[in-house]
Amino acid sequence: MIGGGGREHALVWKLAQSARVSKIFCAPGNGGIAQLATCWPIGVDDVEGLLAAVEREGIDLTVVGPEAALAAGVVDRFREAGRRIVGPTRAAARLETSKVFAKDFMQRHRIPTAKAVTVRSLDEALAVLDLHPLPVVIKADGLAAGKGVVVTTDRDEAREAVRAMMEQRVFGAAGDVVLIEECLEGMEATCMAFTDGRAVSMMPAAQDHKRAEDGDRGPNTGGMGAYAPTPFVTDEVLAAVWDRVLAPTLAGMAEEGTPYSGILYAGIMLTASGPKVLEFNCRFGDPETQAVLPLLESDLVSVFDAVASGRLADTEVRWKRGAAVCVVMTAKGYPGEYHRGDPITGLEAFNGAKAGASPAVVFHAGTARDGARLVTAGGRVLGVTGVGDTLSAARDRAYAAAGTISFPGAFYRSDIASRALGAAVERAL
Ligand code: AMP
Ligand code: GLY
Repeated sequence: MIGGGGREHALVWKLAQSARVSKIFCAPGNGGIAQLATCWPIGVDDVEGLLAAVEREGIDLTVVGPEAALAAGVVDRFREAGRRIVGPTRAAARLETSKVFAKDFMQRHRIPTAKAVTVRSLDEALAVLDLHPLPVVIKADGLAAGKGVVVTTDRDEAREAVRAMMEQRVFGAAGDVVLIEECLEGMEATCMAFTDGRAVSMMPAAQDHKRAEDGDRGPNTGGMGAYAPTPFVTDEVLAAVWDRVLAPTLAGMAEEGTPYSGILYAGIMLTASGPKVLEFNCRFGDPETQAVLPLLESDLVSVFDAVASGRLADTEVRWKRGAAVCVVMTAKGYPGEYHRGDPITGLEAFNGAKAGASPAVVFHAGTARDGARLVTAGGRVLGVTGVGDTLSAARDRAYAAAGTISFPGAFYRSDIASRALGAAVERAL
């Protein structure tokens, strides 16, 4: 496993349940992953270092977590060396690594998305902004650690955003080209799928909660919680995402000579005129994965095996009934400045011998071992996932478990999945 966040812990946790796995290695891993895998201090973009370690250990199958590894060309290099790996090539991963590529691709293949103009100089950007309706969305073309999108109703703020990207170059080369985009309205959903390039198998649709505070207030974060399946993605929406987004994307990528395989993540806006693509990611979502994978009934190794060898059409991917809710616990101050190295207590019930009895599972994101102690080592510290027959049972389990875990300054939103539960209540009335 390449990566070291909550997403990778969830993946390693699920892989570890497979009878087909004898040993798991993770680079770089974290405090929780270290309980299930041998962790190596190798950077996710150190392609040669990763390959050397895989060859030394004779590892059969590698799974890529973060986009940085894809952008560094890890899949291309591993395939060239005859190593099996789950993920798209660098060229195919442009769907995530270049928003301009993704937008042009969607326009070429008539995949529903927001209208946008690509600008390549500050003057051009300012001229477009003068006339653009508000609100407007500004996007840096390249990877910007989730900070490259500004949505604003204020024309001056929009101008500031393009200046920061194109003049001050706060994202370096990633902001040299910018998209100025129509603002879509609606609710967001995450539709992830496994694909071997031809067959597609959709995972239960999820919803992330990006804002730091309850009621979707406060600054954007890497994600404060997620749940699945979301009732807002109805069968009709799923069918539309399949027909109008996933199928044409895979066909288009193959047709253009950059066939796509691995995990495809479509960030969807559920608009009044149907689902539209906000963004593609070429990997699992974080924290969506922490809510989706606990619902997977099938053996994950067999699914990845099928993805890596083009046999997905012959492989059944089964999901459990019920729902899962993941509540992310953060360090005080996140997404701004926060403290590290604080001891975490209350995890015993979720790890080791007693774990089987717990109705919740804890995925580590920013944690590290400090001798025998487990300490905080990031802004998003833990993801606590509850699983249940219903969304409300899953949520109650997640919150009950989160309430028993503590570290100085621990914070979490209290309204993960509330909107879906509220909507369910309204329908029942
Ligand atoms: P990204 O960094 O690409 O994940 O985008 C971040 C967030 O920006 C999305 O999850 C949406 O909330 C928002 N966003 C992106 N594009 C649009 C758009 N065209 N209209 C409204 N919101 C958008
Ligand atoms: N949860 C959003 C992402 O993984 O990009």
